[in-house]
Amino acid sequence: MLHLKLATDPRWVNIVEKNIEEILTDHAWCEQKAATNAITIITLNSEYPDLVTDLLILAQEELVHFQMVHDIIKKRGYALGRERKDSYVNELYKFMSKGGNRLQSMVDRLLFSAMIEARSCERFKLLSKEIKDLELSKFYNDLMISEAGHYTTFIGFARKYGQHIDVDKRWQELVEFEAEVIKNYGKEETIHG
Ligand SMILES: [Fe+2]
Ligand SMILES: [Fe+2]
Repeated sequence: MLHLKLATDPRWVNIVEKNIEEILTDHAWCEQKAATNAITIITLNSEYPDLVTDLLILAQEELVHFQMVHDIIKKRGYALGRERKDSYVNELYKFMSKGGNRLQSMVDRLLFSAMIEARSCERFKLLSKEIKDLELSKFYNDLMISEAGHYTTFIGFARKYGQHIDVDKRWQELVEFEAEVIKNYGKEETIHG
């Protein structure tokens, strides 16, 4: 799905189901990070009006997701825990070129963002199919659709503004890189864990 090389082992859902409070807290912070990342891309690339327009919408959608997860946390009598680090995302971050020109940096950050959307989408799809909790199954199905749209937005801007860069080749390199990273995950009750 979405050109990922490795699928998540479905047994990851059994780990998640043992600690719903933890996955919800981690998930809430994933949405916060997604909103923050979109704002960072706007800040670094403010001269592209269409990118600013679409990423402002995307950032707001991520904040709504954050709010939706927080609402579920409250409804279930939990409290939002402290921010969780996302070691998968931190490892993926190392792929981005450092010290290149601004356009190369923008394309890399867009592809990095698209990859996180793609993997999140794959995890949400698996959760929606396998989790026994019906409310969460429906919730993750709805979010999967929204995150798939975000993936398309990021990839679309990378292709649009990266005409002089071989974006498909760079994406393929990222797909290979991500497959090496994700091999070591699928063992914890976090969205990318
Ligand atoms: Fe989201
Ligand atoms: Fe998203």
